Amino acid sequence: MTSSPVTIGLLGCGSVGGALVELIAERADAIADTTGLRLGIGSVAVRSAAKSRSGLSDDLLTTDARAVVNDPTIDVIVEVIGGIEPARELILEAMKNGKPVITANKELLANCGAELYGAAAAAGVDLLFEAAAAGAIPIVRPLRESLLGEDVRRIMGIVNGTTNYILTKMAEEGADYGEALGEAQRLGYAERDPTADVEGFDAGAKAAIMASLAFGARVVAGDVYHEGISEVSQADIAFAHRLGYEIKLLAIAEVFGTGTDREIGVRVHPSMVPADHPLAAVRDSYNAVFVEGAAAGQLMFYGRGAGGRPTASAVLGDLIDAALNLGQRSHRRVPGGGQPAKIRPIDELESAYYLNLEVDDSPGVLAEVAGVFGRHGVSIRSMEQEGLGREARLVFITHLARERDLQATVSELRSLGVVTGVRSLMRVIGE
Ligand code: NDP
Ligand code: HSE
Repeated sequence: MTSSPVTIGLLGCGSVGGALVELIAERADAIADTTGLRLGIGSVAVRSAAKSRSGLSDDLLTTDARAVVNDPTIDVIVEVIGGIEPARELILEAMKNGKPVITANKELLANCGAELYGAAAAAGVDLLFEAAAAGAIPIVRPLRESLLGEDVRRIMGIVNGTTNYILTKMAEEGADYGEALGEAQRLGYAERDPTADVEGFDAGAKAAIMASLAFGARVVAGDVYHEGISEVSQADIAFAHRLGYEIKLLAIAEVFGTGTDREIGVRVHPSMVPADHPLAAVRDSYNAVFVEGAAAGQLMFYGRGAGGRPTASAVLGDLIDAALNLGQRSHRRVPGGGQPAKIRPIDELESAYYLNLEVDDSPGVLAEVAGVFGRHGVSIRSMEQEGLGREARLVFITHLARERDLQATVSELRSLGVVTGVRSLMRVIGE
């Protein structure tokens, strides 16, 4: 097959960019054979010119990223810098210059997606971002294309590799939280500021991107309720195991109602997942996403959610797609993003809950505590009591309850003289 040359401008050469350079070198001949494309790197923008970069000659490197997006010899831009600026301006400028863009930048898309999709449509170029939702897992393309006709009702998944790695190490090896986070950073899973991972911002951005594609309405990072894993303790994990659960950081996006009454709820929080649920078996930096459609039923996507090489694989797929489209003077359907979604706030969302209390061990206490649940309309599914000397631990699992009612229950429990502490509160999946 005759190979047509495609010159890539790479913005960023860290975990993902560095792995992409290696993959292109490894796969160039195979790609040329199967697609007729000869991929070559024309220029690589980085922050520091002093770092050594294996597999790249110095004359390709620059610290002037704007020069790369304005270089007429560059056909396609790959943005793997991360963050909002300068990534946003560089992508807009590249598209204005008629260059297709591939990005892995979930933070940018979840905050400025509408502007970028609009600019891609106006310029008639591809803006592809398969790596921005769940690393190597193909989920953006299925949502953007294969499931376009589907009435998607819910997406639920583990979409952050760093936190799943940390929780796995804590649960299986009793690892210390800080050490496990350090290891995730060393392995190239974590964001530049790992707060984005451990406090749920990264999973929230991915949930916003997936919800926008799945529900055809604009969901932005600020619409997502999020809690991270920094408060999850070894004691929580031990209780979860005793009760038959694993703790996972879940992203959940749901649609309620139809037509003008349609609302969307998107949240990220640690959750107790039944040990026999497929998500409980998702370990290490792996991710998994369940999509539930009215006609398609349940679909599950599983794979490596973080790390340079797996992520670079998703970027490379987009790169080939964009290069082929460029050759045919076409581009993928640009997601419209639709109107801003009507968001159902967390207070109105429902879940089952796990509640761990310490109380005085004396007559009438259980009835007093149970009365609080009843007053707020929260139904108890199961209860366990453990003696702690003069005190007792009460562990409750509730039936589905509204977040507002559960929070009112907790607040009244805290005010009871017989409750010495509310040690832990977590949502439970499965009802
Ligand atoms: P890194 O921090 O490892 O790499 C960032 C790169 O960008 C570095 O090469 C850095 O240069 C360069 N850079 C920073 N600022 C500038 C600038 N102003 N101009 C030019 N270059 C700049 O990040 P990752 O590779 O981990 O992530 C890149 C993107 O991919 C992010 O959006 C991230 O969210 C996303 N992503 C990452 C995944 C992962 O597992 N790591 C998975 C999925 C998506 P220098 O090398 O000189 O410091
Ligand atoms: N920091 C992200 C994670 C990278 O740990 O999942 C992949 O998006």
